[in-house]
Amino acid sequence: MATYSSVYLGIWGVFILILIQESRPVSWDEWWTYDGISGPAFWGLINPEWSLCNKGRRQSPVNLEPQRLLYDRNLQPLQLDKHRVSGVLSNTGHGVVFAVNYNDTRHPVNITGGPLSYRYQFHEIHLHYGMRDDIGSEHAVDGYKFPAEIQIFGFNSDLYNNFSDAVNRPQGIVAVSLLLQVGDLSNSALRFFTEQLNHIQYAGKSTGIQNFPVLELLPRTKHYMTYEGSTTMPACHETTTWIILNKPIYITKQQLIGLRTLVQGEAEHSKGPLGNNYRPTQSLHHRPVRTNINFNVEGPQKCPTAYRDIYYKANSWE
Ligand SMILES: *[C@@H]1O[C@H](CO)[C@@H](O)[C@H](O)[C@H]1NC(C)=O
Ligand SMILES: *[C@@H]1O[C@H](CO)[C@@H](O)[C@H](O)[C@H]1NC(C)=O
Ligand SMILES: *[C@@H]1O[C@H](CO)[C@@H](O)[C@H](O)[C@H]1NC(C)=O
Repeated sequence: MATYSSVYLGIWGVFILILIQESRPVSWDEWWTYDGISGPAFWGLINPEWSLCNKGRRQSPVNLEPQRLLYDRNLQPLQLDKHRVSGVLSNTGHGVVFAVNYNDTRHPVNITGGPLSYRYQFHEIHLHYGMRDDIGSEHAVDGYKFPAEIQIFGFNSDLYNNFSDAVNRPQGIVAVSLLLQVGDLSNSALRFFTEQLNHIQYAGKSTGIQNFPVLELLPRTKHYMTYEGSTTMPACHETTTWIILNKPIYITKQQLIGLRTLVQGEAEHSKGPLGNNYRPTQSLHHRPVRTNINFNVEGPQKCPTAYRDIYYKANSWE
């Protein structure tokens, strides 16, 4: 949280802080935060290469409004390969990230189907979470924020060589989003991460994880919502197809407490706890949000006012 928010310095503060920052070797990539004067409202101003963060009109995350979903019968089931991968779990100072280690992973995990026209290759997982239970997710459902969100990123391996090559190219990226709800028993794959938190207390720390079952993170549902948007961190490239699964996975209170003990800075210059690392929701600007949930067939009634309840009770909040 609060890197600089305790003192609001205004726009001049940005320049002062740039000078302060430049006394230490900090790359542009690191120089943004989730609040204060380097927070989301300023991302597009502090680096010209990030101008889409302020000017873009196909940005993410968004608030998903159940009454605006469009049923699309052409949407296919989402497919993820089930084999396990090795990778590295890191505290990046902005969040918790698991990145696949290509040296140790014989077979890529492909992500196909759903709304996708291309084959995507699993690349990394981002974890966003709140310091309180009523905030934390990036996407919202009917204004409701979940305590955490996990985003599984892949790059278009039909067209591009790797993630960094794909991230600013057409149809470059897929993000499969899982919304987390507090429960008594956690998702089994999530424990691979939460059991390692003591190794990644400070920014820059990382630890290896073997045999991570990506597919086991997913909730048991074939239902999802999908729209075209952006990455939710600078440079906010508008290259991401989002797929939000319509059922939460579970995280325990203890696991959330563990995440909230992580720190944004390094051991020498600690900058406060790591958390509340979500970008505010962005306007849809008339983009459609499609779904493969056929309310007419799958709901118990056809009454339109009931759709919202059906959606939550039957799928999202059970
Ligand atoms: C993968 O192998 C390359 C070349 O040997 C090495 O430079 C790199 O650090 C390795 N990556 C990881 C994550 O171990
Ligand atoms: C994943 O895609 C690659 C091509 O990118 C292919 O060689 C491989 O067989 C696919 N894996 C599975 C399990 O289908
Ligand atoms: C990604 O692919 C591009 C284009 O082929 C290449 O220039 C670059 O070195 C690759 N980057 C990594 C990290 O492998």
